[in-house]
Amino acid sequence: MREAVSDSNPTSSPPPQALLERLKDYGQEDVFALWDELSSEERDILVKDIESLDLSRIDRIIRCSFNSQGVPAAAIEPVPESIVSTVEERTMEDRERWWKMGMKAVSEGKLAVLLLSGGQGTRLGSSDPKGCLNIGLPSGKSLFQLQAERILCVQRLASQSINEGSKTVPPIHWYIMTSPFTDEVTRKYFESHKYFGLEADQVTFFQQGTIPCVSREGRFIMETPYRVAKSPDGNGGVYSALKFSRLLEDMATRGIKYIDCYGVDNALVRVADPTFLGYFIDKGVSAAAKVVRKAYPQEKVGVFVRRGKGGPLSVVEYSELDPSLSSAINQQTGRLRFCWSNVCLHMFTLDFLNQVANGLEKDSIYHLAEKKIPSAHGHTSGYKLEQFIFDAFPYAPSTALFEVLREEEFAPVKNANGSNFDTPDSARLLLLRLHARWVVAAGGFLTHSVPLYATGVEVSPLCSYAGENLESICRGRTFHAPCEISF
Ligand code: UD1
Repeated sequence: MREAVSDSNPTSSPPPQALLERLKDYGQEDVFALWDELSSEERDILVKDIESLDLSRIDRIIRCSFNSQGVPAAAIEPVPESIVSTVEERTMEDRERWWKMGMKAVSEGKLAVLLLSGGQGTRLGSSDPKGCLNIGLPSGKSLFQLQAERILCVQRLASQSINEGSKTVPPIHWYIMTSPFTDEVTRKYFESHKYFGLEADQVTFFQQGTIPCVSREGRFIMETPYRVAKSPDGNGGVYSALKFSRLLEDMATRGIKYIDCYGVDNALVRVADPTFLGYFIDKGVSAAAKVVRKAYPQEKVGVFVRRGKGGPLSVVEYSELDPSLSSAINQQTGRLRFCWSNVCLHMFTLDFLNQVANGLEKDSIYHLAEKKIPSAHGHTSGYKLEQFIFDAFPYAPSTALFEVLREEEFAPVKNANGSNFDTPDSARLLLLRLHARWVVAAGGFLTHSVPLYATGVEVSPLCSYAGENLESICRGRTFHAPCEISF
């Protein structure tokens, strides 16, 4: 027996006629199938729920997305190596120059960071926002805290770099996209942790939209007899969410020109990376992405491709790449043909974000992700409709790809411990090993009671962003792993 929201007596009145007619226009009248069984309070909830939906827009999205299935997309081509800035070809001078250019832009307040944190983290099996996750580091810091402290570190370095005595640099503004599933907990988490040392007013939360989940026939799935099942509209929902929250204007008012946009679930993410920013400014492009070489054919990462010969740069998500292509080998190099993996870290100009926020919103083809949707009848097969952040790339007048080393910058946290890949445990180890190498390079020593490959040390982001400035703390000192090295 289902639980009623209230036990007030249902009346015999039918569903509002006008609303029913509108639903019929779109073939969605089944949402009222259980009307007679609902209490009056439940009926109110259902009516308000339906009224809050932009039915004609949603209908267009469902039809366009279903119709596009099976339509062959332009053949994909590998991204030529020549358009990727590879780690190998980068000189020390390049890196120093980009670092300085990036620092200058940060010190002038031109950089904002934008965190995509509206995902439901279903693979991780936790209902908390992923950013709250403690991956078991010696410090016990969550992913949010690591990111906040990296922002603080770049701010401090930028302030030191301008070397003008009392002049302070504007704080790096942090825009955090949540969804109705993560919003309240995320805000409370930041408040209760005093924004991890950031100023409360340098952090802006905003919510992405949701969209109904649909059956194979394109009908709305009911989460309960009086509420439509909805899910976030994908991390590409960021563009319309920025527009509707008027945050693009907010960015312009603050003098922001560049936006570093990233996913929450990478323990090694270099938030506000001055080198990447400097590279981006130097290239003069409107969109760029960090990439790593794909580790193995089935790795769950999107890959950068060209759509058609010489066509625009875009990403094919792992769920949409034909398996024969994911394992195809380039006979000359012996490497995977589609090897440039997306790590969900992108840089955009504000001008480009404005352009996309107006363009992509009109794009009605969403990706269909087949999922088990919690419904009034138990879990049922259906689709979530999503836009992806990288759907914007083909619109970009100019793009660039920047290779980074996965052992330095990519420690994804996707699955619960016990899975084979991308778990909190694997991410923790990647971080501890990297930081152990920093400490040794800075003249420190390590002792350990478990094998070193299973442990390491953690360097607080407040001490060092990417391994710099550690000599004064580490030279000649011995640290017993695992431990945190802090001021
Ligand atoms: C994502 C990338 C994939 C990349 C991989 C690297 C996308 C669409 N896919 O895959 O190409 O190789 O990371 O780790 O970017 N999010 C929202 N709102 C949503 C859905 C997701 O904000 O509606 C956020 C998540 O909170 C997360 C990020 O987007 O921060 C990535 O989302 P997730 O669904 O975890 O993407 P993956 O499948 O891991």
